[in-house]
Amino acid sequence: MVTKALLVVWLSPAVGVRMYVGTFTEELNWVDGTPGPGLRSYELGEDGELSEPIDYEAGTSNPAWLLTTETTMYAAGETIVALNRSDFEILSIADAGVGSAVHLSEYDNYLLAAHYGGGAVTVYALDPLTLVQTIIFDDVQGTGRQSSAHPHAIYASGDDVYVPDLGADKIRRFVWNTTVLEQSEDVEVAAGSGPRHLAFHSSGEWVFALFELSNEIASYSVNFDGSLSYASSASTLVDQPSDNQTAGAIYVSGTYVLASNRGDHNSVVVFEANLTTGALAFVSDTDTEGLTPRDFLLTEDGLLLVANQDSDTIVSFYFSEEDGLLSRTPANVTVVGSPACLTL
Ligand SMILES: *[C@@H]1O[C@H](CO)[C@@H](O)[C@H](O)[C@H]1NC(C)=O
Ligand SMILES: *[C@@H]1O[C@H](CO)[C@@H](O)[C@H](O)[C@H]1NC(C)=O
Ligand SMILES: *[C@@H]1O[C@H](CO)[C@@H](O)[C@H](O)[C@H]1NC(C)=O
Ligand SMILES: *[C@@H]1O[C@H](CO)[C@@H](O)[C@H](O)[C@H]1NC(C)=O
Ligand SMILES: *[C@@H]1O[C@H](CO)[C@@H](O)[C@H](O)[C@H]1NC(C)=O
Repeated sequence: MVTKALLVVWLSPAVGVRMYVGTFTEELNWVDGTPGPGLRSYELGEDGELSEPIDYEAGTSNPAWLLTTETTMYAAGETIVALNRSDFEILSIADAGVGSAVHLSEYDNYLLAAHYGGGAVTVYALDPLTLVQTIIFDDVQGTGRQSSAHPHAIYASGDDVYVPDLGADKIRRFVWNTTVLEQSEDVEVAAGSGPRHLAFHSSGEWVFALFELSNEIASYSVNFDGSLSYASSASTLVDQPSDNQTAGAIYVSGTYVLASNRGDHNSVVVFEANLTTGALAFVSDTDTEGLTPRDFLLTEDGLLLVANQDSDTIVSFYFSEEDGLLSRTPANVTVVGSPACLTL
């Protein structure tokens, strides 16, 4: 009961906060949505209602990931763009020549990027964005989507940097050494699983990996040296196996781990993690009322917004921290072409 009272005190309502959406802007053979505006913002209203949109020039095509800091927004697309978060003026644009960036992290005055197609990670100094390091991976010879390296994301946790590589079936590890990334011992994962994203528990002691191709979540305990020890895993499809599924996004809130399913089932599935054993217990699975939920966002006061890329919609739900259940808000579905990522 004490915990609940504290929650009420600590949760700050998101009403009035702006949410930013990155969208695909071109016809792409793997996107069924309508080309969208690139960079759009909405103000969050009561009960998940979104305001009239404001569109900005993103400075890049197909911004698939947005990272906001106090002063700056970074958009990752064919190039990486820094925009003033106040007036959305483009401050600088970087092109490392290794294909589109799909995910960004900030670390100690540097920006880190994962390049899916080019099989690379890059590091930039800030203000203006200046390329300082490129690491290209040429150590993969599989088939299909695993015929070459495909880093899907990059995360910094302390001085440890982790890169889930969908093509390599590895979580690549790096250690930050003053100004450069140094390769460390990779975390090997199940063949054919296709690691896509990670989500760290706030304690820093656990990390949850989302496997796009095997539709699984795995929990790992984080060791003092930054290495990861596998603990447990669960299928995001629970008891509805299908060959037409790819896991999308993952997020941790308290002891809950949320992930999206894309394909025949378009849903957000919730598990509760046991923070002693890493075991994941199924809690709920909720239809996102659209197609291909590539990303979703959870506000501190329990509003879950889902970007359904292929049905051109953003749909809002309440997420209950008490029981891990999702329920639709009364808000209307918001229409925007090919939404790819959401951030505050
Ligand atoms: C960002 O925009 C604000 C408002 O126009 C301005 O005051 C600030 O100087 C700008 N920052 C940069 C880095 O250009
Ligand atoms: C960090 O870089 C310095 C200079 O290149 C090198 O001497 C040192 O061994 C590196 N540290 C680690 C932990 O690799
Ligand atoms: C996979 O699911 C999507 C719905 O998200 C559907 O549009 C598509 O036709 C399905 N593909 C196959 C091969 O069944
Ligand atoms: C976590 O798992 C352990 C071992 O099965 C069990 O004793 C404990 O009660 C679980 N914790 C929670 C919060 O469920
Ligand atoms: C929701 O959509 C309906 C039908 O288009 C419209 O009449 C209603 O005003 C909308 N509600 C809000 C809060 O915008």
